[in-house]
Amino acid sequence: MSTRQDVKKRVQELRDQLRYHNHRYYVLDDPEIPDAEYDRLMRELQKLETEHPELVTPDSPTQRVGAAPVKELGEVRHAVPMLSLDNAFAEEDVLAFDRRIRERLEVESIEYAAEPKLDGLAVSLRYEGGKLVRGATRGDGSTGEDVTQNVRTIKSIPLELLGRDWPAVLEVRGEVYMPKKGFEALNRRLAKQGEKTYVNPRNTAAGSLRQLDPRITADRPLEFYCYGLGEVAADYAPRRHSMVLEKLREWGVRVNREIKLVIGAEGCLDYYAKIGKQRASLPYEIDGVVYKVDRLDWQAELGFVSRAPRWAVAHKFPAEEQMTILKTVDFQVGRTGALTPTARLAPVFVGGTTVSNATLHNMDEIERKDIRIGDTVIVRRAGDVIPEVAGVVLAKRPKDAKKVKLPRKCPVCGSEVVRPEGEVVARCSGGLFCAAQRGQLIRHFAARRAMDIEGLGEKLIDQLIENELVTTPA
Ligand code: IVH
Repeated sequence: MSTRQDVKKRVQELRDQLRYHNHRYYVLDDPEIPDAEYDRLMRELQKLETEHPELVTPDSPTQRVGAAPVKELGEVRHAVPMLSLDNAFAEEDVLAFDRRIRERLEVESIEYAAEPKLDGLAVSLRYEGGKLVRGATRGDGSTGEDVTQNVRTIKSIPLELLGRDWPAVLEVRGEVYMPKKGFEALNRRLAKQGEKTYVNPRNTAAGSLRQLDPRITADRPLEFYCYGLGEVAADYAPRRHSMVLEKLREWGVRVNREIKLVIGAEGCLDYYAKIGKQRASLPYEIDGVVYKVDRLDWQAELGFVSRAPRWAVAHKFPAEEQMTILKTVDFQVGRTGALTPTARLAPVFVGGTTVSNATLHNMDEIERKDIRIGDTVIVRRAGDVIPEVAGVVLAKRPKDAKKVKLPRKCPVCGSEVVRPEGEVVARCSGGLFCAAQRGQLIRHFAARRAMDIEGLGEKLIDQLIENELVTTPA
């Protein structure tokens, strides 16, 4: 028979253990126990809290599931405004930034904190007495939205700080974002349910955080990295930005491991090149890097111009999204006869190259995204992935925009196109009669990982087929 005291003690033990493992897993990305064991601890705590509801506290690890929905998000005035950053696009801009600072401070060389610029949305997290009391979006910089109940569901945001030496008031600022994998999984799930998919992780993160129903936020794979402070009680007076990040890490706040100290403009540009190379393989989207003067006394001396600090700059990467016009849609026939709709676009510079074709995947996708010929569309090219039409700018739809129709005849051989009820893919029924299928099939047959026929490449195959010298792989 357990006494009330025993239960209370066990509840406390479980909370301490869950907090510890939560930090290992979500903040340090270094779990110590298997997921099943974590779940077991969580279930035991849930059971005890159900049996003894008077023991439930708002910062219990069980309380992240999402509170009741609200009618609208409240307003929060930021005690310290949330600023934006000036942009640098070219090397010269970075050299000029560094020169300006050295001249103002009259010093030879500056040490900068170089950080990935996450593409999510800025939030301010207020801790009082080490407990999370408020979460707010940036809004217009002076007033944001109260998203306290929503940020509480993000597991990499601690409900309570670790250690003891934190200031009585501490506002942690950083970026809420959705990792690439989580974004893709969410879109797959939405597509399967026949719902509209999101254009990019950034919009998805913003939409997910600003939900009126925190249970929806809880269901979205959001994460958080901090990059600075807002209001702080006077008893904390750090000397360097890098020391702030070190302290925050000790207090259990998640800090990006890619943040490095560099010296001078040269160090900044090396960092830019290095992160640029990693960009496609990072688990989250970034739209650039940020350089910040590391010494906080120098930051104070430099101050601000209008809404941006003089001591920091965002060095942007080429954009991975652009708007352009969808001129027409062609259908390409694959080896199995599958018809893939391809967007023909007004050429646009995106993700570092000029793109004039993009995949539209299949007819269902076109219908779900409601893409029409003549539309202004958003083209995405992330890393080496083939460019895709991610969405439509409905506000720019012309009156004569035309719906995309699946051709009734194969554009290559004229055979009938069939699309069995309930299937996503439409196919040419021509089989080997269809030159497209023949070519693709022979290409597949001759490929390195199949028969590996040296010299039988794309050009030769096309010639053989055009001249009807070869009709089947056999
Ligand atoms: S510092 C006073 N650091 O970029 C400086 N911002 O264009 C305030 N961002 O609203 C921002 N990563 O949402 C800073 N490592 C980083 C960042 C970062 C992403 C975002 C943030 C901010 C916007 C400014």
